[in-house]
Amino acid sequence: MYTQSFSVPDEGRPAATAIASVEPPDKMARFDACIDADGRIEPQDWMPEAYRKTLVRQISQHAHSEIVGMLPEGNWISRAPSLKRKAILIAKVQDEAGHGLYLYSAAETLGTSRAQMLEALHSGRAKYSSIFNYPTLSWADVGVIGWLVDGAAIMNQVPLCRCSYGPYARAMVRVCKEESFHQRQGYEALLVMMRGTEAQRAMVQDAVNRWWWKCLAMFGPPDSDSPHSAQGMRWGIKRVSNDELRQKFVDATVPQAQVLGVTLPDPELRWNEARGHHDFGAIDWDEFWATVNGHGPCNQERLATRVQAHRNGQWVRDAALAHARKQQQRSMKEAA
Ligand SMILES: [Fe+2]
Ligand SMILES: [Fe+2]
Repeated sequence: MYTQSFSVPDEGRPAATAIASVEPPDKMARFDACIDADGRIEPQDWMPEAYRKTLVRQISQHAHSEIVGMLPEGNWISRAPSLKRKAILIAKVQDEAGHGLYLYSAAETLGTSRAQMLEALHSGRAKYSSIFNYPTLSWADVGVIGWLVDGAAIMNQVPLCRCSYGPYARAMVRVCKEESFHQRQGYEALLVMMRGTEAQRAMVQDAVNRWWWKCLAMFGPPDSDSPHSAQGMRWGIKRVSNDELRQKFVDATVPQAQVLGVTLPDPELRWNEARGHHDFGAIDWDEFWATVNGHGPCNQERLATRVQAHRNGQWVRDAALAHARKQQQRSMKEAA
């Protein structure tokens, strides 16, 4: 997971500011030529400071989103309805941890340390996807997160496999393969529930009602309100605009909802023959920004759980460092 809200500035709602270039023109020209030729920028290559900063912000927000994203679903591991569902959910939550690790590693190649990034997350300075600041009230939420949240993540992340920064693009290839499994397991869990009792069907519908609009907001603010998007597109970091991705997601999801037998909670949702796309209603952006800025229902709980998990893992980090030191001393002794 997850998505465009990664490129939300850490300070909150964006202001329209231009990025001034103070870079050496010859190096800048080589960099631009590489981007124009759809080439890859690698860690050892020269890059403008603003490109580096944008990537650090986006990749670290993405990494934070992966590991905070473990929390809402992790809550359901002990309450999964069967051994099979528990095994699937454990595998999915572990995958999200792995995604976080690939992404922190990719961000480290840009000269930031993992400790710095985690400190920014734990102190509340760094953002993560706002979708994880909502509660998971029933087992159906776990299915809906797989279907819609991971589904939205795939829509957003597939174009990132072609991102101009090599380590990020390569990490995304594997992440996307795993997200595809996440989406399918969620959809399949919901299909089983929809074939069950009336109460199970109502539970699925209720979960869809609560998550639908939040998933549409995952693609980030409208293009008209995204001053950083144009620069991201120019640099080949972002390949498809927020509004285009959101439209693709709606168009792909409507037939899936029909097969499932649920109603998407939008009275304005309908096929527009002239556009060749579905029209849909207005997103509540004030609610989105309030959540991004720390006022969602679970922001405090998620951050507190994350900080506690990091503290609980201190002994593992200490032990790993002690082991590495021992190995290093042994190999130095053998070499001497
Ligand atoms: Fe993920
Ligand atoms: Fe996922």
